[in-house]
Amino acid sequence: MIRSIDIESLKFLQSEFKASSDNLLFFKYFVKLSPRGVAVELGAGFGLGTVYLAKRYPQATIVAVEYQRPLYELLLKNLQLNGVENVKPLLCDVRQIEKCLEPQIADVVYSNPPFWRKEFLKNTRKGEIYIKANYEVETTYRDFLKAAKYLLKSSKRFFFMFETARLVEVICELKQLKFTPKRLQFVYPRKGKNSHVFFVESVLGGKGGHLKVEEPLESTP
Ligand SMILES: C[S@@+](CC[C@H](N)C(=O)[O-])C[C@H]1O[C@@H](n2cnc3c(N)ncnc32)[C@H](O)[C@@H]1O
Repeated sequence: MIRSIDIESLKFLQSEFKASSDNLLFFKYFVKLSPRGVAVELGAGFGLGTVYLAKRYPQATIVAVEYQRPLYELLLKNLQLNGVENVKPLLCDVRQIEKCLEPQIADVVYSNPPFWRKEFLKNTRKGEIYIKANYEVETTYRDFLKAAKYLLKSSKRFFFMFETARLVEVICELKQLKFTPKRLQFVYPRKGKNSHVFFVESVLGGKGGHLKVEEPLESTP
């Protein structure tokens, strides 16, 4: 069922895959676009981060990549609903990004891909759209990292959100692909609990140096 929700004076239509407060924290506090540059969002869903950042950076161009047609259609509606004109929506699979976009077009790439592990899938009765949006069933985080590397100009920035339990794995993979992590932030469900999600900003081809760890964020209920 499609429902309408309001987030910070923006309107969204969403279906079984819903807005999450952690995703909003990522777009609101962590991702930074080049004010007049080209950004690519990998896995745009119904457009929560696309619309939010397009409004915040009206001079930037955002290419919003999504492969599930029902979510892509909601994305088109949400762009219209909010009067957003600086977004180019693209129905495309990140695993075949080179068929959709030229290499090295982006000043920024950002992504919060599906990251729940396949083995937890047996506990869910959710439908296909929800599963493909949240679980690593078809596409792994490595596919998203490789697509980001293909799209970014040299020395440009990649913002990524993932499950904290797999932080080491993700950082190793980023380094393997010649990204240098520069900024890290952890999100906690509440005080006294372990972090469940982290955000990392990396530079493609950047030199080593210092990693800035930002103050922790708490999920909003
Ligand atoms: C966790 S959701 C995030 C959606 C959106 N960015 C948000 O915050 O609401 C991950 C998104 O990646 C999309 N996705 C998964 N695999 C993909 C692929 N191979 N190509 C393109 N998009 C993909 C899913 O359909 C889903 O919309």
